[in-house]
Amino acid sequence: MEGSFFCVFNGARLFLSLHILMVCFMHEGCPYGVEGKITSQSLSVSSLLPSPTCSPSTSKASSGKSTLKVVHKHGPCSPLVQDPNPLNHTKVLLQDESRVKWIQSQSSNGSDGLKASATASLPAKSGITIGTGNYVVTIGLGTPKKDLTLAFDTGSDITWTQCKPCVGSCYPQSEPIFNPSKSSSYANISCTARSCSQLGLSGCSGSTCLYGIQYGDKSYSIGFFATEKLTITPKEVIDKFEFGCGQDNQGLFGRTAGLMGLSNDKISFVGQTAAKYGKYFSYCLPSSPSSTGHLTFGKDGRAVSSVSFTPLSTVRQSSQFYGISIQGIAVGGNRLSIPSTVFSRGGAIIDSGTVISRLPPTAYGALRTAFRNAMANYTMAPAFYMFDTCYDFSKESRITVPLITFSFAGGVDADLDHNGIFLMVKTSQVCLAFLPNQADGNLTIYGNTQQKTFEVVYDVAGGKLGFGSNRCS
Ligand SMILES: *[C@@H]1O[C@H](CO)[C@@H](O)[C@H](O)[C@H]1NC(C)=O
Ligand SMILES: *[C@@H]1O[C@H](CO)[C@@H](O)[C@H](O)[C@H]1NC(C)=O
Ligand SMILES: *[C@@H]1O[C@H](CO)[C@@H](O)[C@H](O)[C@H]1NC(C)=O
Ligand SMILES: *[C@@H]1O[C@H](CO)[C@@H](O)[C@H](O)[C@H]1NC(C)=O
Ligand SMILES: *[C@@H]1O[C@H](CO)[C@@H](O)[C@H](O)[C@H]1NC(C)=O
Repeated sequence: MEGSFFCVFNGARLFLSLHILMVCFMHEGCPYGVEGKITSQSLSVSSLLPSPTCSPSTSKASSGKSTLKVVHKHGPCSPLVQDPNPLNHTKVLLQDESRVKWIQSQSSNGSDGLKASATASLPAKSGITIGTGNYVVTIGLGTPKKDLTLAFDTGSDITWTQCKPCVGSCYPQSEPIFNPSKSSSYANISCTARSCSQLGLSGCSGSTCLYGIQYGDKSYSIGFFATEKLTITPKEVIDKFEFGCGQDNQGLFGRTAGLMGLSNDKISFVGQTAAKYGKYFSYCLPSSPSSTGHLTFGKDGRAVSSVSFTPLSTVRQSSQFYGISIQGIAVGGNRLSIPSTVFSRGGAIIDSGTVISRLPPTAYGALRTAFRNAMANYTMAPAFYMFDTCYDFSKESRITVPLITFSFAGGVDADLDHNGIFLMVKTSQVCLAFLPNQADGNLTIYGNTQQKTFEVVYDVAGGKLGFGSNRCS
């Protein structure tokens, strides 16, 4: 049996291969546009600097019965033992690039998911992660329950964690590795079970179902497909949750124990809990690594007032991604003249795991020009990585930044938090946090930097996506 186990694994591997410091108070010095709408924000440069200590959000929304706390993997609020190396922007951005390539290869015409991504020219160095989300949540697994911190990812389907005895290998993680033999609620899924055949990549070890998941950078997790008791909060327990008990795992998933898949797929957390939560979830990503946000499942009787909804769609063959329709961008209240076909040509998705939004080059060019004009009074700084619009704020104490607004189908306007506009390398190098795609026809990705502090509501059953501003700090 051990033999067949490895045989299948090898086979599988071959096959796989501010807090808006809107110091623009309503009384004075507030720059208004023609319609009386605020068009810029004044903020202190020090508010752009990360804080070394954790100050959790105090928002009421973070205490629902099916609500998990969301924190940035690398920040002072993270439950993970801190990496010896501090947050390295270059590394994060290289991983982000790798993820974008993976997503785009999955969604491009004529390509065939995994096979395509395995052959795409991605960094060959093993251990470079796809950057599956910088944001983590802690859930409980098993009986008695063990706490595990997982990256959550709207672009992934299966939820998995590393499992003992790590037949292949396990990477170092912060919490003890889950041991199924110590849990009374663990059960293997049989090879003949219907859910086994729903997996994208499956195999058998004897009669036990095996899953395999490969990410675009050759990170992977392979192991037993099993059921367990999943504890969200003490009052919210999901019995017989189907997950991957990873026996062979590789990739720099930080020190997380694995991943929680929130894609639009039967096997994802969202699909499996459809009866309980009605395919409805929302999250708020904190403005900085030193604050906290939340991830909530189900409507939970919460008011969705002042959340505006845009239709969700599917993008080409990649139904697992959440498609949206971007209609325009405004800088300082002025709509940029970008033909709407520029956005519709390649389609667009919203993704929790991509860090920096990828825009059609035509749209990025217009955004950059308008932003540079509005920021003409500030000293520019050298480019960083692929960011070509950077500023030196080291001699400023306060700056005035134009509002950037994204318009989505259905009349939804999202005014970005200032933390969604800037990538702070250092005070003397603060960059406009957007990147262009290679061509207008490539898939546009609305990334997590631009989602900060919004309540992003995925009403998957209702076919719509909501944005509510200022829901966490
Ligand atoms: C950041 O990561 C890049 C790419 O992995 C590496 O070349 C560079 O040396 C790192 N910088 C620091 C300060 O660790
Ligand atoms: C992808 O295919 C669809 C329909 O087959 C087509 O309308 C679209 O133009 C194609 N997109 C690209 C970028 O080739
Ligand atoms: C699950 O399946 C594996 C491989 O067949 C086996 O080693 C393990 O004992 C099984 N666990 C349980 C709880 O049945
Ligand atoms: C730049 O500064 C000048 C002088 O203070 C001011 O008149 C002008 O409006 C500023 N330009 C922008 C784009 O803020
Ligand atoms: C982006 O579009 C160009 C031109 O259509 C195409 O050659 C390239 O493969 C696309 N890139 C990705 C990552 O899909």
